[in-house]
Amino acid sequence: MIELRTLTPEDWAIWRELRLAALAEAPYAFGSQLAGWQGEGDREERWRARLSIPNSYNALVVLDGELAGMASGVPTSEENVVELISMWVAPAARGRGVGDELVQAVERWARQAGTEALRLAVAEGNEAAIELYQQNGFADTGKFGDTMPDGVRREHLMEKVLSATLHG
Ligand SMILES: CC(C)(COP(=O)(O)OP(=O)(O)OC[C@H]1O[C@@H](n2cnc3c(N)ncnc32)[C@H](O)[C@@H]1OP(=O)(O)O)[C@@H](O)C(=O)NCCC(=O)NCCS
Repeated sequence: MIELRTLTPEDWAIWRELRLAALAEAPYAFGSQLAGWQGEGDREERWRARLSIPNSYNALVVLDGELAGMASGVPTSEENVVELISMWVAPAARGRGVGDELVQAVERWARQAGTEALRLAVAEGNEAAIELYQQNGFADTGKFGDTMPDGVRREHLMEKVLSATLHG
């Protein structure tokens, strides 16, 4: 059974556990690096701040009683445009619809907030994630984001328009 939970800053410890697992397991997928959230970087106030971004949404999925995945929606510098970030599903839970559930949860939250477009950045070559996003209606914008920590691959920016009023 897939169970979706919305997180508050009080849930920082569970978010920390999942995020550290994500950064350790899938470093190819994220702009953030594990080292940046360990040692001095691993502080309660920092995790709480991450979950306290105004107008953000943070969720996790429990699958058959086990922590299985996480994702967030956060505002961008553009009004009515939000970004889907921090998407990760634990390897043992993959291929069972958890990724779909998380994308759809962020989209539902975004729609309820009157968001016009949902954006995300995905690393070049991350085919599982690109396929997940395409299946959920995201299209490649043709634009590039940051260079990944390996200094080689670029982020591809994808977007799903939620409201016909975007761009007038
Ligand atoms: C990408 C990721 C989130 C997918 O999660 P998941 O729970 O396995 O995905 P789902 O089971 O919900 O799959 C939904 C759809 O995504 C696509 N997909 C998922 N995994 C795929 C894979 N390995 N290869 C190709 N397509 C894949 C398929 O279209 C799938 O639909 P289908 O099952 O009907 O074929 C997961 O592999 C992951 O966490 N990867 C490492 C972290 C990461 O890449 N995060 C994204 C950062 S942008």
